[in-house]
Amino acid sequence: MKIMVVDDENIQREMLSGFLESQGFEVTGASGGIEAIEKFRQEHIQLVLLDHRMPDMNGDEVLEKIRVINPNVRAIMITAYGAVDTAVRVMKLGAVDFIEKPVDLEDLLQRIHEIEQNTAVDEDFQEVREVFEEIDLPVKIIGSGRAIREAISVAGRIASSPWPVLITGETGTGKELFARLVHELSPRHDAPFVEVNCAAIPENLFESELFGHIKGAFTGAASNRKGRFEQARGGTVFLDEAGELPENLQPKLLRVLQENRITPVGSDIERDVDVRVVAATNRDLREMSEQGRFREDLYFRLNVFEIHVPPLRERREDIPELVQFFTDRYAARPVKISQPAMDMLIKYHYPGNVRELEHIIQRVVTLVRSSVIRPGDLPAEIKSGHRAGNHDDLPLDQRLAAIERDEIVKALEENNYVQTRAAESLGLSERVLRYKMKKYGVKASRKRN
Ligand SMILES: Nc1ncnc2c1ncn2[C@@H]1O[C@H](COP(=O)(O)OP(=O)(O)OP(=O)(O)O)[C@@H](O)[C@H]1O
Ligand SMILES: [Mg+2]
Repeated sequence: MKIMVVDDENIQREMLSGFLESQGFEVTGASGGIEAIEKFRQEHIQLVLLDHRMPDMNGDEVLEKIRVINPNVRAIMITAYGAVDTAVRVMKLGAVDFIEKPVDLEDLLQRIHEIEQNTAVDEDFQEVREVFEEIDLPVKIIGSGRAIREAISVAGRIASSPWPVLITGETGTGKELFARLVHELSPRHDAPFVEVNCAAIPENLFESELFGHIKGAFTGAASNRKGRFEQARGGTVFLDEAGELPENLQPKLLRVLQENRITPVGSDIERDVDVRVVAATNRDLREMSEQGRFREDLYFRLNVFEIHVPPLRERREDIPELVQFFTDRYAARPVKISQPAMDMLIKYHYPGNVRELEHIIQRVVTLVRSSVIRPGDLPAEIKSGHRAGNHDDLPLDQRLAAIERDEIVKALEENNYVQTRAAESLGLSERVLRYKMKKYGVKASRKRN
């Protein structure tokens, strides 16, 4: 990543440049706004570290001008200590971050690494999005928040490898869609995608279902039959609800994954199979394997790559896009959603995730009489549950913790993730806020848009 350091103070500029160079970055310096813009036109710079107060032009102006030249540039503004107003303003202008003087180098480095990571994820995401039109998915994966970007970026990067993938997430989050995405993006996309629902197959038929059987192998086996692994030859086997795999089958599956060979029931001749296994589960297989309820070696084998699809309540930024998508999909005539109704939909906690949202919209657009959906048209659970979450079924201490966490997230969102402000609005010191964010796993990252 190429970084430009813009600062009129030579010592500060050289110190920052020297530090970043020692960390392996390519760095160029500019001693003021005019020089910065000039250099920016000539060189391919991905990140700009910008002193806010400079004699020829202030940081706001420089940022505005360079964003015209390259809207994708990332910028970190260096502001005077405690200048919260400036910080809020520059974030609105499109600086992805700001740091206060004096610059804490460790902190700066960490933020640059975060930006680097995000830039890479965005590039992968764009690449996959561009082929959405051409690939054969039942529906496009809607959403462009950070979490979905990351999941799609992972899917794009691992699709071409032959190793198993484990897709984890609560019910209705879109695990099956991701399994299909991995298949469609893989070199196997012209071969079959064969689904096995491990929860739906009777235990005594499981082995024959997966690996097939030969005639006479058991009562009722009237002829040879191919199992799902052979049906998927050259393609992908999707093991849905993998947490429900019967125990006696787990070692057999492990062997298949290790050796790429199956033995049909009743046969003693092994056959080569060439399939990629994608498994999905809404259970915690790690915990299950720790408790001896799932073979640990199989867990490690399935989990070479993991795609985690977070619950919808942890990526509310995707809700408006999903609501729009499902409305267009299910409404017989054009309907709009009023802002108050949308706000309620955004606040609901969706225990059934995207599937639940889809069903809600389907019902609402079918029943609504007018051409605008208002709060009154929404189902009762949404109208009543418009706290950030509904924690009624938790014990008191957990409920209080959950409410506290919601309040912290809300305060951060309302204050553009400027922690000083959020802390102030909550009546906490910044240090206590940071402690609580860590405790509850609340991210310090800023939401884009
Ligand atoms: N990002 C998304 N964009 C559009 N539709 C989605 C998205 N995520 C999920 N859906 C839709 O929600 C429904 C549930 O998705 P899916 O079946 O993939 O979930 P799942 O995680 O496999 O659920 P389960 O654990 O219950 O099997 C499907 O109709 C799917 O098309
Ligand atoms: Mg599913």
